[in-house]
Amino acid sequence: MSSLAKTLIYFQQRVYQKIPLLLPPETSSPIQLNRALHYVCQQPGKAIRPFLVYATGQLFETPHDTLDPIAIAIELIHLYSLIHDDLPSMDNDDLRRGRATCHKAYSESTAILVGDGLQTLAFQVLSDKEAFVLSAEIQLNLIQILAKAAGISGMVKGQAIDTENIYQSLTEQELETMHIHKTGALIEACVHSAALVGLGDCRDPHTLGNLINYARHIGLAFQIQDDVLDATATTETLGKTANKDSLNNKPNFVNLLGLGPAQQKAKQCIERALACLEKFAPTRAEPLIALTHYIIKREL
Ligand code: IPE
Ligand code: IPE
Ligand code: MG
Ligand code: MG
Ligand code: MG
Repeated sequence: MSSLAKTLIYFQQRVYQKIPLLLPPETSSPIQLNRALHYVCQQPGKAIRPFLVYATGQLFETPHDTLDPIAIAIELIHLYSLIHDDLPSMDNDDLRRGRATCHKAYSESTAILVGDGLQTLAFQVLSDKEAFVLSAEIQLNLIQILAKAAGISGMVKGQAIDTENIYQSLTEQELETMHIHKTGALIEACVHSAALVGLGDCRDPHTLGNLINYARHIGLAFQIQDDVLDATATTETLGKTANKDSLNNKPNFVNLLGLGPAQQKAKQCIERALACLEKFAPTRAEPLIALTHYIIKREL
């Protein structure tokens, strides 16, 4: 197993062991809600967002304990976004992370409430006074960053562009805008938030600007690769229904540019992202560099 794969598993377990502890007991009432909450939190994804938080933290030697609330809060928002994204009125997906989607395993109303609950739990975690060894000002800043990234100027905006453009042909620029919002915004929040809590030169505007540019490039590449995998991978490998964008008549980069040019565009984003990391010491940037390559090499 590569060192990246081992580190991904380490951070995936770190976050997915802590999340269930935040939930009401699985057997408590209201039973459907609590069972469904545990159901979705028991099946980890790749956890690339938590990884990004910890790997950005490593640039500034920030302890993992300091980064935990950020990694957990962002993964909770991501989980909620997947549950709502799969709903019949959105992408109408039956399969997620190799199992029935939340609304299939439970009900649509339960899945909506699970998403709502996970979203607000994220802000509960981020605003917890006990959880942070940070100043109230930084904590407030983190809440603001995540709220903007998740909300109507970020992920929600991107999801709205997505759902409002079924059967439409978007221009390349419009599609970039959609991807940068629906997926890039949360990825940017990982890097931005982790940089803010570090010590030393991490809050220097130039360093921060460079990291935010890095995050924008990988955010776009990540969603283009998701489009590529949608068109090329199998349902079994992905753990979600393959070819779903075409079935749903969704605009994506493969449908717009063709497979080769879409892959080329993702590669270009990765090259630009790597250039943004050049100023950091290779020893400290190593996990971030490995993750950057992985974004377009991944097979799920
Ligand atoms: C899937 O995200 C949804 C997108 C934003 C493309 P991931 O590919 O990170 O999903 P998990 O968390 O590994 O299941
Ligand atoms: C979803 O994009 C982005 C989110 C904000 C959840 P997709 O709809 O392409 O994600 P998948 O392919 O269902 O994971
Ligand atoms: Mg979608
Ligand atoms: Mg979807
Ligand atoms: Mg997709």
